[in-house]
Order: sequence, then structure tokens, then C-alpha cells
Amino acid sequence: MTAIYVNDLVKKYKSGVVALNGLTLTVREGEIFSLLGENGAGKSTLINILTTYLSPTSGTVTLFGKDTYGKAAEIRSKISCVAQRTSIDTHLSLTENMMFQSKLYKVPKSEAVNRMEMLISCFGLDKYLNDSVSTYSGGVKRRLDIALNLMSKPNVLFLDEPTVGMDIQSRMAMWDMVKKIRNNFGTTIFLTTHYLEEADQLSDTICIMKNGKEVIQGSPNLLREHLRQDMLQISFSGKKEAENYFKALKGALALKESDLRQNKILTSLKRGQSDLEKTIRLLLEHGIPFLGIEIIQPTLEDVFISLTSENRKEVS
Ligand SMILES: Nc1ncnc2c1ncn2[C@@H]1O[C@H](COP(=O)(O)OP(=O)(O)OP(=O)(O)O)[C@@H](O)[C@H]1O
Ligand SMILES: [Mg+2]
Repeated sequence: MTAIYVNDLVKKYKSGVVALNGLTLTVREGEIFSLLGENGAGKSTLINILTTYLSPTSGTVTLFGKDTYGKAAEIRSKISCVAQRTSIDTHLSLTENMMFQSKLYKVPKSEAVNRMEMLISCFGLDKYLNDSVSTYSGGVKRRLDIALNLMSKPNVLFLDEPTVGMDIQSRMAMWDMVKKIRNNFGTTIFLTTHYLEEADQLSDTICIMKNGKEVIQGSPNLLREHLRQDMLQISFSGKKEAENYFKALKGALALKESDLRQNKILTSLKRGQSDLEKTIRLLLEHGIPFLGIEIIQPTLEDVFISLTSENRKEVS
């Protein structure tokens, strides 16, 4: 079943900025859906419309098959949204925070206690029960914030950049939590992220958006296949060396879509083996001191750069 359906959605702010420009996407029930886009792509505007805090200029938004227009109260009882700033009260204990949330949603007390205990144990929050919430690390605060938002048993959970600024351990704990929410409760999860690795690890479906419109939507594998091209990677001993030879190689090899990343030059392979041979010959003939050359599969980052860069044609 479809959880969220957005069709030809337009949002024009009073200032004249068109934040959403005919966006169309579909989120299936029970999946983890990641929205990726550069700053200003329109991600927060979309979340604000889906969570009924903003009204669209035109277009359709349905939640579980029902048109959301004018039904803010009904929609809000079915969803939860964890914004970037945590909503926990550091003057209250962990359990007081959770019970407070249940009161907001009018969950009967005995049911709330059961649910709270289940959530605390499910997400490994029990070891923090005796500590003051104000002493929690950013990662634990955020996990508590998400647990709070699950007290009302939402059908859809919106997470705006759930792991921004976290170290890798906290981020992995968060990924575990998000997967558990999907697997144990069947909750549909709609998240935004700037981290491609995160979207790749977590998502059933990824939507890349640019300038208020979707560029591509599909599984991580489908997105990778989209490039359908392997890449050629030439490594140098340092960033400076790679920079020095980048321009010369670009000209000599007529590399159109090439990129300099750290100590590596990456380029798409048009003619497989013959491109590789040509490049090796050129490197050797000119005595260019490269460390290695290999054919690699494109990463999701390559797909993202390729689809969102200005000088390439957009799909869709
Ligand atoms: N309240 C507003 N009034 C006018 N313009 C706005 C408003 N909110 C956002 N915008 C503009 O709409 C566009 C989309 O903004 P939005 O915040 O939705 O992008 P975003 O993808 O969430 O970006 P970020 O990754 O930086 O959070 C931007 O050009 C932004 O400046
Ligand atoms: Mg935003």
C-alpha cells in the first residue's frame, strides 16, 4: 500500500521563491524512504507540507490514500516528526519525558507505561535511566527524542537529518534504531539526509531532488545502475600531484566527465578496456608518476554528483 503520494506539488512562498516545482514521489507503507538534496532543494518545505505545517500552492498530497487537504488534526494524530532541534525537556527525567509525550497524545496511562518500557528496552535506553537527561550525549538525546515520538504509535515517522553532526558510533546506533523501528513496528520512515552513505545503508527507496523537483527515485541499487558506467580511477601519491596532472590528462584524454577527489582522478569509462589501455600508455609515455589505476563501480555519491551537477542533462 502507498503511505504517501505526492503529485505535481508546487510551493511558492510569498517572497516569490518557488521551493517545490512540480514534485512527484511515492512512499510505500513500511519502508525507509530517504530524501536527498543539496541545500535549498526544498526538503524541509516538503516535510512541512507533509506534516501539515504549510499548505501547498497546488498539487496533490495523500496519506494512506486520503487527500490531506484541510485534515491537519487527523493527519497529525497519525504521524510524528523529529525536527533537527530536540524536543526533550532536560529538566525532566527520561521516563517523565516519555510520559509527558503520551499525555499530549492522550494515551491511557497503563498503555503508556507498557509502551514506554518496551521502547526503552528496544532501543537500549535502560542504561541511561539513572542519569540526568542534561548529561546525555547528543546521540543519546536524539535517540530519546525519537523514542518519545514513538509513544503515540505513529504510522509515519519523519526524521529531519537524524544523524547530522554525530560521530560514527552514534550514527551506527541511530541506523540500528531506524531499522528496528521499521522491522519491529512496521512504521513508515521518511527521512532527509545529506549523507549518501547513510541513505545507501538504510533506505529501501531514495529520492534525489533538485530545485524543487525529483531527479530520480528508486532503490539504492537502481540508482547505482542508473549510471551504468564503470569509472576509471587514477591514484597519485598526494592531492597536489593529482591536481598537477588533472588538467593535462583532461585535455589529452578528452575527459568530459571527470572529477578530482583527494589524491585521485575519476572519470567515466566510455569504451572500457580501450580507454584503460590508452590511459596507461599515456601515463607511461609521459612519465607521469601515478600510484595505481583501476576500474571501479560508481558509488552513490558519483550518481548524486552526476545527476545534480549543472552541466549534465537531468533525467525524469
Ligand atoms: N519561509 C520561507 N519563505 C521564503 N522562502 C523560503 C522559506 N523557507 C524556505 N525558503 C526557500 O525555499 C527554498 C527551499 O528551501 P528548503 O528549506 O525547503 O530547502 P532544504 O532542501 O530543506 O535545504 P537545507 O538542506 O539547507 O535544509 C530555498 O530557496 C529557501 O531559501
Ligand atoms: Mg532543510
